[in-house]
Amino acid sequence: MYRSHSCGELRIEHQGQVVVLAGWVQRVREMGGMTFVDVRDRYGITQLAFNNQQNEGLNKAARQLGREFVIQVKGTVIERTSKNKQLPTGDIEIEVNELQVLNAAKTPPFTIENDTDGGDELRMQYRYLDIRRNVIQDKLRLRNKVALETRKYLDSLNFMDVETPYLIKSTPEGARDFVVPSRMNQGEFYALPQSPQTFKQLLMVAGIDRYYQIVKCFRDEDLRSDRQPEFTQIDCEMAFVDQEDILNTFEGLIKHLFKACRGVEFEGEFPRMTYSEAMEKYGSDKPDIRFGMEFHNMNALTKDKGFKIFDEAESVIAIVAEGCAAYTRKQIDALVDWVKRPQIGASGMVYLKYNEDGTLKSSVDKFYSTDDLKEWTNYTEAKPGDLLLILSGTTEKVRKQMNELRLHLGDELGLRNPNVFKPLWVLDFPLLEWDEDSNRYHAMHHPFTSPKAEDFNLLASDPTAVRANAYDLAMNGVELGGGSIRIHDKKIQAQMFELLGFSEEQAQEQFGFLMNAFEYGAPPHGGIAFGLDRLVATMGGADSIRDFIAFPKNNAGRDVMINAPSSIDEEQLNELGIAVNTKV
Ligand code: AMO
Repeated sequence: MYRSHSCGELRIEHQGQVVVLAGWVQRVREMGGMTFVDVRDRYGITQLAFNNQQNEGLNKAARQLGREFVIQVKGTVIERTSKNKQLPTGDIEIEVNELQVLNAAKTPPFTIENDTDGGDELRMQYRYLDIRRNVIQDKLRLRNKVALETRKYLDSLNFMDVETPYLIKSTPEGARDFVVPSRMNQGEFYALPQSPQTFKQLLMVAGIDRYYQIVKCFRDEDLRSDRQPEFTQIDCEMAFVDQEDILNTFEGLIKHLFKACRGVEFEGEFPRMTYSEAMEKYGSDKPDIRFGMEFHNMNALTKDKGFKIFDEAESVIAIVAEGCAAYTRKQIDALVDWVKRPQIGASGMVYLKYNEDGTLKSSVDKFYSTDDLKEWTNYTEAKPGDLLLILSGTTEKVRKQMNELRLHLGDELGLRNPNVFKPLWVLDFPLLEWDEDSNRYHAMHHPFTSPKAEDFNLLASDPTAVRANAYDLAMNGVELGGGSIRIHDKKIQAQMFELLGFSEEQAQEQFGFLMNAFEYGAPPHGGIAFGLDRLVATMGGADSIRDFIAFPKNNAGRDVMINAPSSIDEEQLNELGIAVNTKV
């Protein structure tokens, strides 16, 4: 037996017991004739004491231990003279009488402490050392708990875990596919699934009724802090349900997870908002509703007063930054510079200070009278001490820019507390969006999403006005999950493919398997998928999903620890019938 106890287990009640511990050396301190060594494992840290007077040889050996050496010790649990209240094991120490070095270690490239001196890239290169740190282990523990509780909850509702293949056919779901060459079918490729979408629908046709899977998905898209090329979904599908059934079932799941894994209880039902309202009020389909600062459309109040920029703009939108009238010239200039950065792309910003004494000061008071400006404050319900910030331009652009500015101010003003959780169902997404680049419609969610029955007649005349039975769950400005009620009728599915610009042959070639299945009795069905990485990161109060993944990729999509992707040798290429075009 390597150990009788873990390094986090021993307490004062164990006093007098002879124990065996094994773990990593956290640090070695020499104090006169004594040497103290902190030994660590996943469960905690225990102090070991070596005494020169009792055993000089052992004390000398202890002093030669380096950080991260793997050791095993045998000794007696004794009460500490100076207790450490910060540590659960801080009342005791081990008076060691046997020490064995199981493995020596090189000095690690960064300190294995909660606050490390290792930069991101270095930590990723030595991720196995990074994961030894408690802060990272806590995140992986939370992830494990969320996955476990998900299984328990869905199992209790009769959901069945069914695995679906990873080597599939390319499916257009928005992002690019990762492809895998086939040796046995040269010149042909598998694609890694962007999600198990079509398979879970086939499982409904197959009568599985309630399916779930905690499953890896792969998307070759540009990375951001909440995007990885391979990520994990809690993927679900149900038969014989309508939208309301799905929203209720999965609101239940999210409530259960927050309670079981984070001790957070949500009061009442999650609020709901339509997509169009979310875009109007927040310029985002995943609004952060931890704070207000909603948009005000200022068109009617700003036009025809001689200010050309507002006169010509499709939309003039204001937000009220509460208590910010005291912002200095420098602070406002910094905000103007911020919105003008290429990532945001505004050409400028107008402000109106509603000073505490009731006076008004604006960057455009040349064009607008005090009465005009007073109307602005009335309309936006600004109070003395508030600051109005106004952007203008084409509706889509100005909404995007204002969304960024709102979130930026939310951060600056400390309104985005990571320990406050505000879920929001966003409903009635448009079925289609027009894509300028390819000059055709794209499915906003995916091509299997059903249009709303009441909008069906618009499909031919005004396709972008058609709303879908599609929904997202947003929380704290993050899209945690999304899904839809599916089309289960072959004719409607064919019509949808036609709208998306597929010829009949192309539709048959790509999705014949699904449309054929729909001819053999497809039940009405729908589902949802949550991003597990995002869910856990949000629960953990973090913006980036990276630390919640054991072995993540960097922003260039590389695994810097194993150095992937990498080239393969000529022989492997030949076997696959592939030539690499180095000119591209
Ligand atoms: P969707 O594409 O909205 O829907 O994905 C579902 C959820 O997966 C998460 N997610 C990601 N997380 C990390 N990195 C990524 N690159 C990434 N992409 C998506 C998000 C998102 O809400 N088949 C449909 C679901 C359905 O209709 O049932 C689907 O995949 O949290």
